Formats: sequence, structure tokens, C-alpha cells
Amino acid sequence: MTAPSAETAMRTAAPIYRFTVNDRPVEVAVPGGRRLLDVLRLDLGLTGSKEGCGEGECGACSVLLDGDVVDSCLVPVCQVEGRQVRTVEGLATGGRLDPLQAAFISTGGVQCGICTPGMLMAGRAFLDAGTVGMLPTGAALTDAAIREAISGNLCRCTGYGRIVEAVRLAAEGPVTTMTAPEAIAAPLARSGQSVLDLDDPDADTPRALAEAYALLADGGRRPLAGGTDALVEREAGVPGVHRYLDLAALAELRGILVADGGLVVGANTTYAELRRSPLVAEHAPILAEMAAQVGAAQIQNRGTLGGNIATASPAGDSLPVLLALDAEIVVGGAHGERSIPASDFFPAYRRTALAGDELILRIVVPIRPDRTVAFRKVGTRRAQAISVVVLAVAWRAEDGAWRDVRVALGSVAATPIRARATEATLEGAAPTAEVAAVAAATLEAEITPIDDVRSTAEYRRSVAGRILHRIVRDAAGW
Ligand SMILES: Cc1cc2nc3c(=O)[nH]c(=O)nc-3n(C[C@H](O)[C@H](O)[C@H](O)COP(=O)(O)OP(=O)(O)OC[C@H]3O[C@@H](n4cnc5c(N)ncnc54)[C@H](O)[C@@H]3O)c2cc1C
Ligand code: FES
Ligand code: FES
Repeated sequence: MTAPSAETAMRTAAPIYRFTVNDRPVEVAVPGGRRLLDVLRLDLGLTGSKEGCGEGECGACSVLLDGDVVDSCLVPVCQVEGRQVRTVEGLATGGRLDPLQAAFISTGGVQCGICTPGMLMAGRAFLDAGTVGMLPTGAALTDAAIREAISGNLCRCTGYGRIVEAVRLAAEGPVTTMTAPEAIAAPLARSGQSVLDLDDPDADTPRALAEAYALLADGGRRPLAGGTDALVEREAGVPGVHRYLDLAALAELRGILVADGGLVVGANTTYAELRRSPLVAEHAPILAEMAAQVGAAQIQNRGTLGGNIATASPAGDSLPVLLALDAEIVVGGAHGERSIPASDFFPAYRRTALAGDELILRIVVPIRPDRTVAFRKVGTRRAQAISVVVLAVAWRAEDGAWRDVRVALGSVAATPIRARATEATLEGAAPTAEVAAVAAATLEAEITPIDDVRSTAEYRRSVAGRILHRIVRDAAGW
């Protein structure tokens, strides 16, 4: 008897994932770390979603997952189990084009076959999220809002004018719908014809924390939250992932609540959830402001606060905010839980205080109604920008002076930092022009940025000083 080949062994071992695509139930037997994009294109024969960058930058692979627009190149199939996927093939229904497709045609918004499917899905998610003519937030429909909605979708040929016009036309409706060409009117999803790729990592999806801890202690597994860092690293060939520990089903890592004077945010909370949360808006609105500036809709719908903290990039946008808010990061493992101040959590470049067998469980932000917090991010472009400098400043005004001042920055050192010498220049002082000038000069001298492809060290110093000066000026009103 011949031994089974590696491919056969893997095919036998591959778990079955069941979900719906364009309202049809499908099932695939593939490793859980396989990208949804590959499942759609290779396993199910739905080639409308395109691969541009494979790294979340271009949006060509955009699909709707339970109605939210996501980059299918960054979604592992283990996290699609039991959920609803809509692809561009599923937009036309009953033999008629979706009104947005018809609007794209009538405005000339169909510019190329790579980007258009993703643009359509981002536009459809935007239209579905609000009532016609209104944004989800209730604000009037504006070009800026449409541009934000499609900012995760790149065009390198013609620009966005006609696409924005098409989304507006479909929002304002009614658009004369058109008969769908047969090729797109009959979306076919085949089932179970998986094309094996031996590079796809497997995934375990524990449903209880104890199970997660046991799997983590077993070794060889990498925690996976939204995958917007982990799958990019995999695409870039960073070694070390054999198997994902999918955290999506752990209820303990989800939710936002108020307890013991603190705002408690589950590690698996996405940026979109931070933006939508009434509790965040009431007790720590700066978190929502920060979240609105992370990536674009596709990243905000998937990326999590816990993932940002664990990645520990010096450019991570949430990290200076958490430092300025005196947040505590609660981690847990088989031995129990411990709470670590955010200011002690990042000991070295891309290192955290997390032990190898621990998970980040939640983030606790002390509720201080008398505190003001300002956040500024400077990047190389508006959407999808890695910050050149990110600055968060917190203080309490008392008798005309600033108290409990925190000045925290990202992208200006190997780790996110608190600028303690700068804090000392502001502590107990009235926010005058002289004080602001001294604080800005102290900050420029205190930080240790380096030259890299995005910016020079000198530019970062001067930007950091200027934005701190402006924050003090705006707060004081001189
Ligand atoms: C196009 C694009 C734009 C982006 N823009 C921004 C931006 O503007 N600002 C910004 O700060 N970041 C940005 N990012 C980076 C990324 O989206 C964020 O860092 C995000 O918060 C990562 O969260 P995640 O849930 O996707 O993490 P994952 O990719 O799932 O995980 C990231 C790391 O954290 C670990 N991990 C995750 N959760 C836990 C946990 N609970 N306990 C222990 N370890 C855990 C994983 O093992 C992995 O090492 C961008 C990424 C892309 C692809
Ligand atoms: S292929 Fe570019 S975002 Fe997925
Ligand atoms: S629409 Fe594809 S590059 Fe412009």
C-alpha cells in the first residue's frame, strides 16, 4: 500500500467551512487560513473579485461580509463560517442590474475591470448603511462622505469623479435599471472543488478561553484577530506562522461596557465598532476619532484594537492614545489574568509585555469627565496612510492651568512613547504662547525619530513640535 501524498493527507484533514455566497449555501474543505479571495476565485469559480495588491491597499478584492465591506485578501475562510458573503456577481438580481451598476454605466464610472468590482462593493456597502440620501450618521450625503466610503479602493488611471457621481446618482435614485448581461446575471458558485495550496495555514477556532489558552500553550499557533496585519505579513513572506489561533469566537474578547469607573473595551473590538459605540462617544470619544483615521472602511471593519496593540508598531495609531488615556491592558493565560499599564506595555521595537502563552483580553480606560484629549495624525496621504507622526495629548484644566498632562507619540522612536520632559513643561502651567513654544522646542529635542522611506527625522521633529504648539493654541484660543 502506498502512503498518501501530502496533498491527499491534507485534503482528508481539511475541515469543512459552510457559509452562503450571494444567497446560495456553499461548503469548502480547505485549511482555515486560506484567504476568502482564493476560496471565491479558485474554489468557487467566482472570479469577479480581483487581486491587485494582496495586502489590503487597493480594494480590488472587496466583498461584503454580513453587509460590511472587507478586503477578501485579508479574510481567512475560518472566519467566514456561518456568515453571508456577497460578491460583485451577486449584485444583479432577477435579471436586472443593481441600480449602482446601472449608475456606474450611465456616468462612465466603469473605468477598468480590476477596480470596478471592488468600487461597486464599497459603494453598495455605503448605500446599504444609510437611508437613501443620508449617511449612516444622519449627516447629509456629501461628496466627501462618498469619497471616504471608497477611499480603500484605488484607481491609478482616471480618478474618482465619475465613480463619486455614480454613487450619488444611485443614492438619490431612482436610477433606470438595466437588464443584466447573462454572464453576470447567473452567478454560479460551485462547491467542494478546492484547489489545494499547501502554503495555506490551518486554523483552530476555540469557543472558550480555557481552550484557547491550552492551544496557545501547546505552541506553534499564532493568535489571529482581524488579520489585517497577520495576513499582510504572510503575503510578505514573514516566516513563523504554522497555524492560526482564531480568536473570533471568544465572547470574552468582545463588547464595550462601563465597569468600576472604567470604559472596558474587548480586545477584538474593531475600529468600526469603536466609531459606532455610544459608550465610546460618551466616555472616550478620542478612541472613535482615532479609529476614523485608521485605514479605510475595509480595514476599519476588520482591524481590532487588540491586534494593533499586539503588533506594537511604533506607527500604530491607537497606542499613543492609550498612553495618553492612562489605559490598562488586561492580558490572560492559563495562569490567570494581569493588568499592565499601557505605558509599560511596549518595552522595545515591536515587542510587548505579553508572555508567549498569553492573550490580550481587554483594554480599560479610566473614565475622567474633566479630562480633555486631543489627537493628531500626520500621514503621507489622507486614507490608508501609515503615520509619519501621531500625537495624543491629555490634560485637566484647573484654575487656568493644565494638570495631569500626558503627551504621547507614535512614529518618532522605536516604540510608542510618553514625552515626559515635554509633559513637565506643561504641567501646572497656563497654556500661553510662551509655554507652548517651550513645550514644542522640548518635544523636538526629546524625541528620537529616524529617517525612513516615509519621512526624514528632521521633518518628524518639526511636525511633532508644530502640532503640539497648535493643540495648545487651539485649546487656549489665542
Ligand atoms: C491597508 C492597511 C491600512 C492600515 N492602516 C492602519 C492605520 O491607519 N493605522 C494603524 O495603526 N494600523 C493600520 N493598519 C494595520 C492594522 O490594520 C492594525 O494594526 C490592526 O489594528 C490590526 O488588528 P487585527 O485585528 O487585524 O490584527 P491581526 O492581524 O489579526 O493580528 C495582529 C497581531 O496581533 C496578534 N494578536 C491579535 N489579537 C491578539 C490578542 N487578543 N492577543 C494576543 N495577540 C493578538 C496576532 O498574533 C498578530 O501578531 C493597516 C493595515 C492595512 C492592511
Ligand atoms: S487585493 Fe488589494 S486589497 Fe485585496
Ligand atoms: S479604475 Fe482601475 S485603474 Fe482606474
